[in-house]
Amino acid sequence: MKKEDFPFLRQLAREMSGISLTEDKAFLVESRLEAFASREGVASVDDLIRRLRQEPLNGLHQRAMEALANHETLFFRDIAPFEILRRWIVPEILSRGSSGGRVSVWSAACSFGQEPYSVAMLLREHFPALHDSALRLVASDFSTVAVERAASGRYSQLEINRGLPAPYLLKYFEQHGLEWQLRPEIRRMVEFERLNLLNTLPAAAPFDIILLRNMLIYLDLDLRRSVLGRIRRALKPDGFLFLGISESTFGIDDGYSPVAVDNGCYYRLRPTGGLL
Ligand SMILES: C[S@@+](CC[C@H](N)C(=O)[O-])C[C@H]1O[C@@H](n2cnc3c(N)ncnc32)[C@H](O)[C@@H]1O
Repeated sequence: MKKEDFPFLRQLAREMSGISLTEDKAFLVESRLEAFASREGVASVDDLIRRLRQEPLNGLHQRAMEALANHETLFFRDIAPFEILRRWIVPEILSRGSSGGRVSVWSAACSFGQEPYSVAMLLREHFPALHDSALRLVASDFSTVAVERAASGRYSQLEINRGLPAPYLLKYFEQHGLEWQLRPEIRRMVEFERLNLLNTLPAAAPFDIILLRNMLIYLDLDLRRSVLGRIRRALKPDGFLFLGISESTFGIDDGYSPVAVDNGCYYRLRPTGGLL
């Protein structure tokens, strides 16, 4: 990859996904683009970049930027948010007369689906009355490939080994050759859609609970602020936001206040015009 191509790619990634490509990632970017070019049948990374520069924005740009995204995820990642949901948050929402016994959840950068399916299994296990119209569980990602894989609910043995408790495997999955697939009753609980957090919110907003975990870390400060501002509009005034373990709203958006509980943390909206 030519040195002068990196600023072009950095600008394209910033506009299309928000992902911040710093110089120290040049090697990683090149190796991901090499794999992508070969999947697309493009002879070299230089040829690929030439096309990206010459053609008006199209599917190739979208797929190339998807190829640069990090989709790392696992079932019940960091466990604390799921324990907090089970022990405190879902019971609190259900106890509010205003909830009408309904809960809405958005997994806002869901990657291959392990996060929303972890929520679905947890709810099925501990709050069996939450299904059909009592539950709205939306999951989205900017990557078409990720959303399609997530909707299939199919996982390799390696992915299953990462975080999924054995009783959940027995109860909620069926085996297909070398893969495992979530049973239809769990898959049906989650509505998947392709959605770019830089400019869109789901039609089902506002939500009681939003999981926006391990996505902001890839964005620069300005885009983190802009996404957190948009997320505020997607959260009910008494809703709950979870970020990833190394993420925070501190110094970025003072519309949120953190609440530490058990071994984890979530965020609530500060009342508008409040003094906090
Ligand atoms: C590291 S994964 C996190 C998955 C899951 N939330 C977790 O914590 O395990 C980050 C995801 O953010 C998605 N992503 C990156 N930029 C995005 C954007 N602008 N809008 C929506 N999703 C985005 C990527 O495609 C990727 O699947």
